[in-house]
Amino acid sequence: LRQQGLKDVDSSQDLDRINDIRVKLLGKKGPIKEALRGMRDLSAEERPKIGQFANEIRDDLTRAIESKRAELEQAKINAQLAKETIDVTLPGSAVSQGQPHVIQQIIDQLVDLFIGMGYEVAVGDEVEEDHYNFEMLNLPKDHPARDMQDTFYVTPEVLMRTQTSPMQARMMEKHDFSKGPLKMISPGKVYRRDTDDATHSHQFHQVEGMVIGKHITMTDLKGTLEVVAQELFGDELKVRLRPSYFPFTEPSVEADITCFNCLGKGCSICKNTGWIEVLGAGMTHPNVLRMAGVDPDVYGGFAFGLGPDRFAMLKYGVEDIRDFYQNDVRFLTQFDQKG
Ligand code: PHE
Repeated sequence: LRQQGLKDVDSSQDLDRINDIRVKLLGKKGPIKEALRGMRDLSAEERPKIGQFANEIRDDLTRAIESKRAELEQAKINAQLAKETIDVTLPGSAVSQGQPHVIQQIIDQLVDLFIGMGYEVAVGDEVEEDHYNFEMLNLPKDHPARDMQDTFYVTPEVLMRTQTSPMQARMMEKHDFSKGPLKMISPGKVYRRDTDDATHSHQFHQVEGMVIGKHITMTDLKGTLEVVAQELFGDELKVRLRPSYFPFTEPSVEADITCFNCLGKGCSICKNTGWIEVLGAGMTHPNVLRMAGVDPDVYGGFAFGLGPDRFAMLKYGVEDIRDFYQNDVRFLTQFDQKG
């Protein structure tokens, strides 16, 4: 019994099996307990001998079982440890943090530039009153120039702003001109009832700019636009102004920059003119100043409105404006500033 028992214990490879053996050999119904129970039938001389013998076997088996159990338990722990080992020297796997959208990158760049020149940044609402989007900008209800900007109306008096220009009126109304000139830019989304195609989107972006103070001239406007062009497209670029029309500026201009691609020599991007049209601007109309409570005999200045979508298309050679709004990560990650 002892030999067989020790052999069974020795050969068992898992804890369940060891437990089975323990129950079988040392349990209440096992041979040892049974032998000890049979002692009462033995003679007085035999009893201690047999008893001692049975106890010895029991102790030997108990020791063997316990040491085997300890051995298997240790092995189990070791296996677990080996399996859960973490190699702290392995390099981490990089998690992409994403990046600002390419249009936001251009807006951020312009905002930084203008903050550096002492402008304040004003963010307006995309849902705007007809009053600010049109009327305060010298576009009364029946004005034909309203047709230039097909509008999403929410109610007869409330609309999705078609331009960031309403911020001109809102900021002039708020500004305390006794403390110095108003210098502001206002970036944001605008909406127009256009059918989406490669060059039109019903929602796009504008950055409005305005300076109102004393002795502000068209030269200041041109110089400011030159700084913008050079920041975005390159140091040597020049700005050219052509006459245009907006109801809220007089005179109004369309601003061209030297073609950044051919530097004025003529190429397909600028249709061989050497110039690229980039934005609308002008000297603020006296009516607009007056409506916002600013005396046009004392104060004046300029305003401009530029389109970051168009700038991004020009800068990166994107041919379809819809690419900016389809959120294809393969497209968008091309413009990762971090490279
Ligand atoms: N708001 C005009 C547009 O959307 C652009 C503009 C802004 C023109 C400011 C002049 C002055 O077309």
